[in-house]
Order: sequence, then C-alpha cells, then structure tokens
Amino acid sequence: MSKPLTEEIKSEVDRRRTFAIISHPDAGKTTLTEKLLLFGGAIREAGTVKARKASRHATSDWMEIEKQRGISVTSSVMQFDYSGHRVNILDTPGHQDFSEDTYRTLTAADSAVMLIDVAKGVEAQTIKLFQVCSKRGIPIFTFINKLDREGQSPFDLMEEIERVLGIRSVPMNWPIGMGRDLCGVYDRMKNQVELFQGKDHTKIEVRKVEDYNDPIIREMAGEFMHDQLKQDLELLDVAGDQFDYEKVRRGELTPVFFGSAVNNFGVQTFLENFLQLAPSPTPRKSTDGEIEPVSEKFSGYIFKIQANMNPAHRDRIAFLRVCSGRFDRGMSVKHVRAGKEIKLSQPQQFLAQDRDIVQSAYPGDIVGLFDPGIFRIGDSLSQGKEVVFDELPTFSPEIFAKVTVKNALKHKQYQKGIDQLTEEGTIQVFHTTSGFEETILGVVGQLQFEVFEYRMKGEYGVDIQLHRMTFQFARWIVDDNVDPSKYRINSTLVKDKKGNYVALFENEYAMRTAMDKNPTTKFLETAP
Ligand code: G4P
Repeated sequence: MSKPLTEEIKSEVDRRRTFAIISHPDAGKTTLTEKLLLFGGAIREAGTVKARKASRHATSDWMEIEKQRGISVTSSVMQFDYSGHRVNILDTPGHQDFSEDTYRTLTAADSAVMLIDVAKGVEAQTIKLFQVCSKRGIPIFTFINKLDREGQSPFDLMEEIERVLGIRSVPMNWPIGMGRDLCGVYDRMKNQVELFQGKDHTKIEVRKVEDYNDPIIREMAGEFMHDQLKQDLELLDVAGDQFDYEKVRRGELTPVFFGSAVNNFGVQTFLENFLQLAPSPTPRKSTDGEIEPVSEKFSGYIFKIQANMNPAHRDRIAFLRVCSGRFDRGMSVKHVRAGKEIKLSQPQQFLAQDRDIVQSAYPGDIVGLFDPGIFRIGDSLSQGKEVVFDELPTFSPEIFAKVTVKNALKHKQYQKGIDQLTEEGTIQVFHTTSGFEETILGVVGQLQFEVFEYRMKGEYGVDIQLHRMTFQFARWIVDDNVDPSKYRINSTLVKDKKGNYVALFENEYAMRTAMDKNPTTKFLETAP
C-alpha cells in the first residue's frame, strides 16, 4: 500500500539537500561539482562536466550569444542520490556570465558551499555571493581547495574568512602538511586520520585514533608532521571556536573542510559530513506566514526565467523552486498574480544541459516549466489557498549604460522590449530627472547588457546602442523632501520604474560625501 501523502512528502523533504557552490572563478567549482556527481553516479566519467564547460558551443542549442562565447548563460541544476539523500546542486554562473540571475539562484538554495583556493584565499566574487547568502541566514560550509599546492597557512585563512566575511569558522579537519608535503588530514570530529599516498594523493588509508596525540599518527606521518599537527590542534582546542550546530544552522559559524578536488582528496568525507549537517528544505516566508514544506498543498515560486533555450521554438523556461507539497506533472495550480488556474504540463528537470521530463517533484527540487510568456520572476504558484512568497530581492546595480535606439521609428517596439525585459529581470531601468529624459540601464554583470542587446534585436527587432557610464553605485533615496540639488553635487539623480529617486555615484568617496552632507536622508542599496 502506498504511503499517505503527508508521510511521503515528509520523507522526501527529510532526504533532500538543495545547495549552491559559491566561489571565485578558477577555485575549482567545476572540478568539485564533477566529483560530487561521480559519487552520486549522476555521471560515469570524469571530465563530463568539464568537457561541457569547454565545448559548450559545440553541443549547446541555447542562446546564440552563449555559442559565441562558449559559456553558459543560465544556471542549471544538477540532481543525484547519495546514501539515501537526494541532492540538488544549483549552479551559479560566474566569470563574465555573472548576473542578477546568479544572485537570484541563491535564494532557491537552503545552504551554500563556499569554495576557497588555498593560495588565493577569499576573493572578490566569493565576497559578493557570500553576502547574499549571509543576508538570508542560510548555513554556509567551507571547502578549502587545492591543498596539493603550496598555499596560505590554515590559521591565516581562518583569520581572513573572519576579517573579510565576518563569519566565525570551525575546522572539521586539519591538513597534515601542505603542497608537496601534504600527506593527509586529521578528522577532528571522528578522531581519525585520512592518509594520502603517492604523487597523486589518491590512495586513502583511514585509521581511527585515540586523539591527535596517538603514536599511530607518528608512525604514519613521521615525527615532524606529527609535532606540527599536535601544535596546531592544541592551539585550535584552546583558541578556536567549538563546533556548535545551532550556530551553523543560523549561518553564524562555518564548518571548514580541507581537501583537493582534482585529486578527489577529502571530497567524499566532505560530502558525507555536509549531507549530515546541511538542512533539508526549510519553511519559506509568505504573505500568509511561513509555509511548511511538509504541507500537503503544493506551492512554489519562479526565481529565474531563461529565454530562447531552443532558438527554433523561441520558448522560455521558468525555473520553479518547489516550496511545499508534491508537484505532479500536468497538475492545475493557481497562478496567483494572474489570478487564474494553469496546467503545468511540460515540466523539466536538469542535469547539466540534458533535459528530462519530470513526473513528480518535492520541496527543495527545481523544476523547469515551459513558459509561453505568462510568468515573471518572483511569481508564486499554489494549490488550494493562495500563497504569495516574499518577493525576490532586487540587487544594487554596479554597471550602467545610457541606451539609445538606432532607428527612431522603432520607438514603440523599443518601449515594449524595455518593459518586458525589465519585468523579466534582465536589466534594471532608470530615467534622468533633468533636461531631456534619457534612459539608463543598470546591471550587476556585463553579460546582462549583451543579453539585453541581443534580445532587443532578436525578439523586438530593435537595434540599440549602449554607452557605458562611469557610475559604480546606485542608492535609493528616502527623504521626506527630496531636493534634487542636495545630491547632485556628487552624483546624478535618476528615477526608477516606480518613480523612486535613485542617486548614481561614480565612486565610494562621492557616495560617502553625499551621505555625510545629508544625515537625515536614507541611502538604500535596493528599492524601498
Ligand atoms: P572553476 O569552475 O571554479 O572556474 O574551476 P575549475 O574546476 O575549472 O578549476 C580551475 C583549475 O583549477 C583547473 O585547472 C583545475 O584542474 C584546477 N584544480 C581544481 N581543483 C584543484 C586541486 O585540488 N588542486 C589543483 N592543483 N588544481 C585544481 P586548469 O589548468 O584550468 O584546467 P585543467 O587543464 O587542469 O582541466
């Protein structure tokens, strides 16, 4: 007999882990993802994901722009099973394909894995992504990669994580040696030594020990290494943070793992610990209070829309995060904003770029819905009672450009394109407030401009010209009495789509000066 629905949903929720890997380009995200997929049996050969990354232009049927540049415009989702768990990895695009989608994807994750290169430490893109996760208060797990290379000392890295990111850390394991001298790690939680042998560090010998004073370690790693290890761990025991599960769950403490993804060293241990400690899908905030994932009624929200995945059909895919209940193929749900029932008939799940048809999905899963143009980012879908999930946050643009139409006769199509593409979240749009009204576009990643230009031409038949501007910061002005002359000294005052005043600054100094001169004015990073 089949299980009652609530029980079925509960057991599916309990075994799910949905997370994103956040890192700076080149830290090893592709390599780590690939190792995780190999453990899960989702791919059979090493190099599968990497080959895709390298030769996407050859196999992809996605946007032309993607073909030209050999990069992925979209965040895809990878799913696999490992020791009873169902794992969803959300891929967050980096490099030049960094965009607001990267940030929005993070809202669909229940936890994050922060990948750091042992030699480079905390880098720019990691900081940005960390901040988005940190604002949501989700648990963040750290994997320090490339231990087979010389890098910074583990203590320095922990200090840097705290200084730059403002989060305390607790090492779950500790390296024995580093670079060419690396011989293994000491697992502080299980009191065991994992030793790696041979040039490629792949042979693993695992030995249980009493504690880090155990003479077995001396036998295994030699006197010098053991003394160093003892010294480090004694210091950590006295001065380091204790493991505290509640703090990890609140995102106040990050468990740190050391390893080398390319050598598959420490990856399995990391995966097993992570699956044990990371949360299963958590309740989501809505206008109706928190929605429990185990509720029998289905609900979810759209966090991303991908256009033109198949240029021949010009279709769009809306990415849905399931928040509660069970999703069934062909089910009817309420599209809350549109106020109508719709049938979800062509759901797809993703593994890299292969699309599979989904029969059912549970909270934590991501489903791709065929979108004939009815969805917007942030839309909620629900069964039974209407549920509206808290709107997705907008992000402060950092790159700006003035936009003009090459052919003035196309103005109507141009306006339509701007309206639709801002609604989809492709770009943010502003208008100047003095003199001849001009349109300024704001984005967080250069790629958004390219996508905008491409789609204006392809979908609306409008050739546009973008003129890059030197602004770097946008701040929404909240003031009882907005007097444009007050901010203009150091900035340009514009209005967003809803008519809110926004000051654009060229540098941090100009922004700080405006803030100092107007102490009663609020300067918000995003729209109020
Ligand atoms: P990304 O997705 O974060 O951009 O990084 P990716 O996995 O592509 O890795 C970037 C480079 O770092 C690759 O080298 C990869 O092999 C290497 N790498 C990943 N993990 C480790 C590690 O644990 N140790 C060392 N030493 N290197 C690592 P590449 O030269 O760019 O590519 P490839 O020719 O080696 O594939």
